[in-house]
This record gives sequence, C-alpha cells and structure tokens, in this order.
Amino acid sequence: MKLILGLILVVSVLVLAAGHIVESGCQDFNFDLKDSNRKCCKKCKPGNRLVASCGEDPNALCTPCDKDKFIADGNPMVCMICDKCSGKNSQVKVNCTASSNTVCECKAGYRCSSDKCSRCIEECGKGHQPSATGCEPCPPGTYNDKIHQYCGNWTKCMQPDNQIIVPGNAYTDVICGPKQDTKPTVLPANDTESEVTVILIIFGLIGIAVPLATILFLEWRRGKATQKPHVEKETHAAGEQTQVSLLDEPSFCFPQQEHGGSNQSSTASLVSQDIRPLEA
Ligand SMILES: *[C@@H]1O[C@H](CO)[C@@H](O)[C@H](O)[C@H]1NC(C)=O
Ligand SMILES: *[C@@H]1O[C@H](CO)[C@@H](O)[C@H](O)[C@H]1NC(C)=O
Repeated sequence: MKLILGLILVVSVLVLAAGHIVESGCQDFNFDLKDSNRKCCKKCKPGNRLVASCGEDPNALCTPCDKDKFIADGNPMVCMICDKCSGKNSQVKVNCTASSNTVCECKAGYRCSSDKCSRCIEECGKGHQPSATGCEPCPPGTYNDKIHQYCGNWTKCMQPDNQIIVPGNAYTDVICGPKQDTKPTVLPANDTESEVTVILIIFGLIGIAVPLATILFLEWRRGKATQKPHVEKETHAAGEQTQVSLLDEPSFCFPQQEHGGSNQSSTASLVSQDIRPLEA
C-alpha cells in the first residue's frame, strides 16, 4: 500500500511539474438571476477553458486544457497549441503549462530576431552588425564596440583646435583631443628619431668594419705567407720527411708516408739537379 501511495505521489508531482494537471473548475461565478440553482462562471481557474457559461455545478463549467495546449488571455473557450521551439538553433527555455505558452530561446551564438523569439539569427560580434544575410563587418568610417548592435559613425573632431588623437577602426571610435603645438610634439619625436639614426649608423659602421678587418687580416696573412720562398720551404720539409722515413724504416711500416716521402725527395732532387747546371 505504502509503495503504491508513494508511486502515486511521485507521478502526481511529475505531472504537476509538467504543468498540465491543474485544478479544474470555475474560479469566480455569479448566481443566475432566473434560476437560483444555476451559477454562471465569470472566470475559470488557470489552465481551464469554459465548457458552459451557466450550470448547477460550478466545477463542471470549466475543464483543464489537454496536454501540449494552454489557455491564456483571449477566447476563454479555446485552448491553444503550445509553441514547439522547433526553429533552427532554437530551444525551450520554459516548458509549456496549461496556462502559459512555451518560452523559446536561441542556442549560444544566436539571438531572437523578435520579442516572441520565433526565429533565431546569428549573433554579430563587435566590429560587425546584423545584415539581411546574417552579419557584416562595419562599413568604413563606422564602428561597433558592442555585441549585436549596429555600427555607428566615427566621431568627427569638429571642435576648433580639436584633432584626431587616436584613429578609429571597426571596433573603436575616433578619439578627439586638443590640437597640440607642433614644437613640443615634434621635439620628442626628433629625439627618438636621432637616437634611432645614431644606432643605425653604429650598426652600419660595425657592418662595414668587421668584414673589412677580416679581409685586411686575411690579406696580411697571405702576404706574410708569400714572403717566404715556396721552394725552400718545400725542400726543407721534404728533407725532414725523408730523414724521418729513413730513420723509421727498420722498425715501422707506413707505406703511404714512405711513398709520399720518396716522391717529395725525388722532386727535391730534380730541383737541385735543375739548379746545379746553372751554378756550373
Ligand atoms: C521540459 O520538459 C521536458 C519533458 O517534458 C524536459 O525534458 C525538459 O528538461 C523541460 N525543459 C525545461 C527547460 O524545463
Ligand atoms: C553617418 O554618416 C552618414 C554620412 O557619412 C550619414 O548619412 C548618416 O546619417 C550618419 N549616421 C548617423 C547615425 O549619424
């Protein structure tokens, strides 16, 4: 028994929450002047439609609307079908009850095109405005710093001695300010300009000096190297190598070095042979 009572309670709470089980009957009635047994309903209870104007039982004069129908102001005898929020990007905000229609809302990034919210349109961000096809960027010379608003003209710095301090863009307005004397504004600008120039000159000089120094250094080294006669150096080196290879021959075997050594010694001997006839 307890279980059944509990179930009934739960079900009735759920149904009441859904909003379609409402107290039935007439809320306000008059007695019929012709027949004291009859009552005439002036107003049904919320969510009820009028079935008959007058009758003996006031509770029988009104009956609740069917599911997915509601009754509001207007014709007291007709329940209307609840809105479905079936439009694109639309969803239920508040469910329909017997006495109130569904309230629809738009999904994130969309907004109602009217108070009734029968249609959802794309929400335009800052720097844009609603258009026939959705959203469009603010036209040149206008701005919009709010969500889903129309772009407005940039302020014109009309006041005498006023000028544009900060230019406008699609998101922000122009900022006007007093015209500044050319001297104080130009001087700091010149200072930074000259600083930049000095830095540029320094970098330019470094850029020239470093490669120049490198070239000069390389030239100087090459010059130093060419001062010594090549032949003398080669014969000297060759002689040393032949000496080493001769000394090493009994104990070690380096075929490549030995070969090279002998080659060099042969060129050296050729050179010495060439020189001898001149001396003779
Ligand atoms: C509307 O009712 C349905 C069930 O009928 C439920 O699923 C939904 O969550 C309710 N929506 C709101 C917004 O209460
Ligand atoms: C914006 O400026 C245009 C002309 O540049 C003008 O036709 C329009 O009325 C202005 N809009 C507002 C809101 O002042």
